[in-house]
Amino acid sequence: MTAIGGAATVRRMWNFSAGPAAMPLEVLERLRGDLVDLDATGVGILEHSHRGPTFERVLEESMRSCRTLGGIPEEYEILMLPGGATLQFSQLALNLLPDGATADYPDTDVWSAKAIIEARAAVRANIAVIFEGKRFHYDHVPTLGEMTPTAGAAYLHYCSNNTVHGTRYSTPPRAAPGVPLVCDASSEIFGRPIDWRAHGLVYAAAQKNFGVAAMTLVVIRRDLLERTVRPLHTMASYAQHAKAGSRLNTPPTFAMHAAGLMFKWMIKEGGVEEFARRNAAKAQLLYSVIDSSGGFYTGLSQRPCRSDINVSFRLRTNELDSRFAAEAAREGLDALAGHKDAGGIRASMYNAMPLDGARALQEFMREFMRING
Ligand SMILES: Cc1ncc(COP(=O)(O)O)c(C=O)c1O
Repeated sequence: MTAIGGAATVRRMWNFSAGPAAMPLEVLERLRGDLVDLDATGVGILEHSHRGPTFERVLEESMRSCRTLGGIPEEYEILMLPGGATLQFSQLALNLLPDGATADYPDTDVWSAKAIIEARAAVRANIAVIFEGKRFHYDHVPTLGEMTPTAGAAYLHYCSNNTVHGTRYSTPPRAAPGVPLVCDASSEIFGRPIDWRAHGLVYAAAQKNFGVAAMTLVVIRRDLLERTVRPLHTMASYAQHAKAGSRLNTPPTFAMHAAGLMFKWMIKEGGVEEFARRNAAKAQLLYSVIDSSGGFYTGLSQRPCRSDINVSFRLRTNELDSRFAAEAAREGLDALAGHKDAGGIRASMYNAMPLDGARALQEFMREFMRING
């Protein structure tokens, strides 16, 4: 927990929420000022027209910072779209998957399972579940030998970091030759480098590593934008959003601005490689306690595919899980209860979580084990 001085003292918890998630205080304070007066215009960010010159500059800077931070190649279009990542589950199928065609979906967690359901609801195509992680309690992502990608598929969709059970792919899965990879990177984008050119499309909800809910980043290779697989209504069409510079209608202007500030903050802090290093160090603090706890704590994921962002584990009983989360909250460590589908404990540590927050949780885990072990 951090106490902040100034006119009013603010009590800030160490926030381990999976999303919406912790943001850096300096970005929040900047946003607070921008609510009332953005760049000395006498008008706040919530009040500026999305067609006016001030917002035009805000969006242009946000897009530019995004490209710089991610090292996103020019042959990829950046879209900032309304709605969360859940909307992309159907939107990407509508845009990329023709009727009667096949798309591959390894099912590795709650969110990839939802992506499968939504794609099936959106299009009359074959959604091929090429790995059924649920059979393994989602404790790992597939090895090469565990899935057989479909030759000629329209794409292979995967979730690079699984927010609920805390697994991740160390490298992208291998699709059949010529088949584009489509990646849900919601819980790790800008937390470790992405090989953009290995992907046709990468998308991520904003509410974890770059700000405010209700906006989703879609990075799509331009040749895929030009493929029309079916007639679409305007708001569903990536091509239409691209043509309109992500301003087809009144867009989520505040979220676009918050994202821009987050991109700049991440650049200033050293960029994606630096965050990958920090995230690995934070995760290691917790995994080291789990691994040396003699079974007091049990990780939900197999070691080779452990996430550096979402550390999920359980204690010996549900009662102990609940007590752990409740006592942690009293010590200033917030939102540690696991996802409802997995139970246990989950510590989500996105880029804005400092090492000190992970240290505080490590200390709490040791103390809780000493008293209850
Ligand atoms: C990996 C992943 N994909 C998709 C989503 C859904 O995002 P949203 O709630 O913004 O639709 C989440 C939410 O936590 C997520 O973790």
